[in-house]
Amino acid sequence: MNKRQIVDRVSWLGAVDWDRRLFDALVPLPDGTTYNAYLVEGSEKTALLDAVDPAMAGTLLAQLADVARIDYIVCQHAEQDHSGTIGLVLAKYPQARVLTTAKGKAMLLDLLDLPESAVDVVEHGATLSLGDKTLTFLHTPWVHWPETMVSYLQEDRILFSCDFFGSHIAASDLFVTDQGRVHEAAKRYYAEIMAPFRAMIEKNLQTLRGLDIAMIAPSHGQIYDQPAWILDAYREWTSGALRNLVALPFVSMHGSTARMVEYLTAALVARGVAVELFNLTVADVGKLAMALLEAGTLVVGAPTVLAGPHPLAAHAAFLANALRPRVKFLSVIGSYGWGGRTVEMLAGMVPNIKAEVLDPVLCKGLPRAPAFAALDTLAETIARRHGELGLR
Ligand code: FEO
Repeated sequence: MNKRQIVDRVSWLGAVDWDRRLFDALVPLPDGTTYNAYLVEGSEKTALLDAVDPAMAGTLLAQLADVARIDYIVCQHAEQDHSGTIGLVLAKYPQARVLTTAKGKAMLLDLLDLPESAVDVVEHGATLSLGDKTLTFLHTPWVHWPETMVSYLQEDRILFSCDFFGSHIAASDLFVTDQGRVHEAAKRYYAEIMAPFRAMIEKNLQTLRGLDIAMIAPSHGQIYDQPAWILDAYREWTSGALRNLVALPFVSMHGSTARMVEYLTAALVARGVAVELFNLTVADVGKLAMALLEAGTLVVGAPTVLAGPHPLAAHAAFLANALRPRVKFLSVIGSYGWGGRTVEMLAGMVPNIKAEVLDPVLCKGLPRAPAFAALDTLAETIARRHGELGLR
């Protein structure tokens, strides 16, 4: 893809990665991704905002072939998908200054082979004049690491936000054209990347409140030329109402836990509670993360293996704990062969989830009448407690 103009002397650079299917060796990317960099050419100085993943270095360098001078390389986030090619850009423009937060500088020097003398720190609220274009830097920690900042181009009212408001979509359209598709992708991105830092995101949204924003230009996904809806979506995902929904990740080895899951699902649905099932042998954990944004309850279906939870269930519990969902209630159901500590081990894996634990339902071997009765009680309790909280 060639360099593309956004407005006068503000251009998109970067790479569309249609093939990438996994990020951080963890996060599924069903629609690929982009690494967006931006070139702002003022009447006196030129700034590059962010760079690209090292795998796409050749694309960025080709786009810079006719750019005679870069004075500033603004690093909004030190993660290598945005910073990993700063060294190559600096080699091409050795007079350029790298601008970042104090934490960003420390992280860049840890992660990359950059000369310390080339990196300057910018404070929260600092402005940088490029002549007839002016950037303001706002520190917005934890979107997605502690060092992150955004940059606001005053004259064109463009907010460059790096991971903040990003979405993993490979597309040739520069601007959002399919809002439904981007909403889904941005929600997935928020659920996987941003959700653990909800409190900080609320503060960062407050920081942006006074800005007159015509466009949001993230470093993944398309540019929002009508940014109101993504700002509203972030407020909703951060602090909106939970739903009358149970997220139910499960795994079953010989069918007994699956029967319990089916029974509980039917019992919940009969009581008006929605359920999203995630068979962990095939589930997309990104969809589980999205369900955890708004579910009132998380129930893990886990058979016992070698005296503990099945490793796939343990993986789901570990991920859920890392994502710090706002669920109000937690429980475990599953079948075991002769004994074990499945419930205790799973409970010990979710210290970050501040939810009330509802009585688990474990049964030996095939579920029979007593197990089904206990599942009915669990469903009844969830429905009642969701109702008491007004979840809809
Ligand atoms: Fe897109 Fe946190 O890097």
